[in-house]
Amino acid sequence: RLFGEGRRNSAGLDLWAAEELVPLGKAMAKAAESGWEAAPLVGGRALEGPKREVRNPANRKQLVGHVVDATPEQAQQALARAQRAWFDWNATPAEERARCLERYADLMEENCAELMALCTREAGKSVADGIAEVREAVDFCRYYALRARQDFAGPQALPGPTGERDEIQLEGRGVFLCISPWNFPLAIFTGQVVAALVAGNCVLAKPAEQTSLIAAAATRLLHRAGIPGDVLQLLPGDGAALGKTLLPDERVAGVAFTGSTATAKLINRTLAARDGAIVPLIAETGGQNAMIVDSTALPEQVVNDILISSFQSAGQRCSALRVLFVQDEVAERTLTMLEGAMQELRVGNPADLATDVGPVIDEEARDMLNGHAKRMNQEARLIARTALGPDCANGTFVAPAAFEIDSLSRLQGEVFGPILHVVRYKADRLDQVVEAINGTGFGLTFGLHTRIDSTVEYLRHRVRAGNHYVNRNMIGAVVGVQPFGGEGLSGTGPKAGGPRYLHRFATERVISIDT
Ligand code: NAD
Ligand code: ALA
Repeated sequence: RLFGEGRRNSAGLDLWAAEELVPLGKAMAKAAESGWEAAPLVGGRALEGPKREVRNPANRKQLVGHVVDATPEQAQQALARAQRAWFDWNATPAEERARCLERYADLMEENCAELMALCTREAGKSVADGIAEVREAVDFCRYYALRARQDFAGPQALPGPTGERDEIQLEGRGVFLCISPWNFPLAIFTGQVVAALVAGNCVLAKPAEQTSLIAAAATRLLHRAGIPGDVLQLLPGDGAALGKTLLPDERVAGVAFTGSTATAKLINRTLAARDGAIVPLIAETGGQNAMIVDSTALPEQVVNDILISSFQSAGQRCSALRVLFVQDEVAERTLTMLEGAMQELRVGNPADLATDVGPVIDEEARDMLNGHAKRMNQEARLIARTALGPDCANGTFVAPAAFEIDSLSRLQGEVFGPILHVVRYKADRLDQVVEAINGTGFGLTFGLHTRIDSTVEYLRHRVRAGNHYVNRNMIGAVVGVQPFGGEGLSGTGPKAGGPRYLHRFATERVISIDT
């Protein structure tokens, strides 16, 4: 029951099937023709204001759409409306709320060409990543709908010795502020928002500045699926400015945040400093994710899994591999094969199916990553760097690179892009490797390639990371079966796509009636 009987994951699309791919390509191109708009959606109405341009990360000359950012005053209006709407929404049967999520999932599947076109053009996602994005968003909806039916359907009896009728029920907390990042602009946006809604909360959704168009398209579909305009409101805009007006406000009853560790800490401090109730912060943050490869691993599989883990989505996944620890005896061979494989990667337009690595999100990210690569050129040994393709001239691309470093301490925090760091280790120093990994304070994903069962068992209890992946790549957790989330600097839990996620958005109430 914990993982939901009758659970059904989205089938996605088969990129190898021409009968699916050709119409999808046409529909994506058509969807992009008219351009997109995003604006604050307050009380179901799109508000007017100055517009800023959104440009394609793969080609900065291409205009994708326009965004009107919310002002602090508009955020306050939205908060007041949400608070007024809350009692009715919380009293709406969980079954009805769950059905809204399922309708939204169906609508996303019906409109997947537009959503994928947005993922490609606004966020620079590859076609395969776009499919995965829609699929994960759909999975979140169906999974949380199912969990809500099980756990929020009504009071559960607590039989016992009191001679009274004792019951426990889950209730929404009030208004939740959901703050999401740009790297999963549909999936994480959706996951946070629908969890809060189905648990009986009203939501103010604050998407990342870089991906407001996708968030607006998703919000419109959620409204079409039956979520009332005051129950879900969209506030695109500057994180710091909106955070400053909303986070100290006592009417915000909880915050779901996914993004950098630094921003999560800032939000945590602001919430802790305010008067009134202590409110929950669900924070899913960065990682300094490591993989250990020992001498028993299969080299071809290892190299393939390194490429996927480090460079898919241009390394812009919180789960991505950042530091590879490879045992001395197999290091030379592994790194030579990695070098060869990296020369085969194709960096370029993410809309092209032949592309392996697309752009990074914007100029700021590109410059930060190139700055890091420059530092690594001086301090480390370059193993390989992939050349940029001919279609990269007008976009924010970063050449995938791998550097050998002498110690993990060379890195100062998460490097969020296609740059891999490699450290060699000696077989009798495995404990020092574990110490170095745990010493980062992060604990999101961990990869292990070994054929020795006792090593798997040994590390299972010692490496502090939320998701361990053995003899496979370390990205792409599947909702319902691989609940995702980290420890320490990587997040507060509970895991997204897991059986306990919704409970953190709710409060437990016990009713005892003398009969
Ligand atoms: P970010 O912290 O810069 O921004 C995230 C969100 O916070 C954005 O919507 C932003 O506008 C908002 N924000 C910024 N300052 C704020 C403030 N003072 N108050 C309130 N909101 C504020 O992160 P990002 O660059 O958008 O995303 C990349 C980061 O997200 C990486 O560190 C990555 O590891 C992490 N991430 C973690 C997970 C996970 O599940 N653990 C998933 C995806 C991304
Ligand atoms: N859930 C995403 C992954 O596993 C972050 O890659």
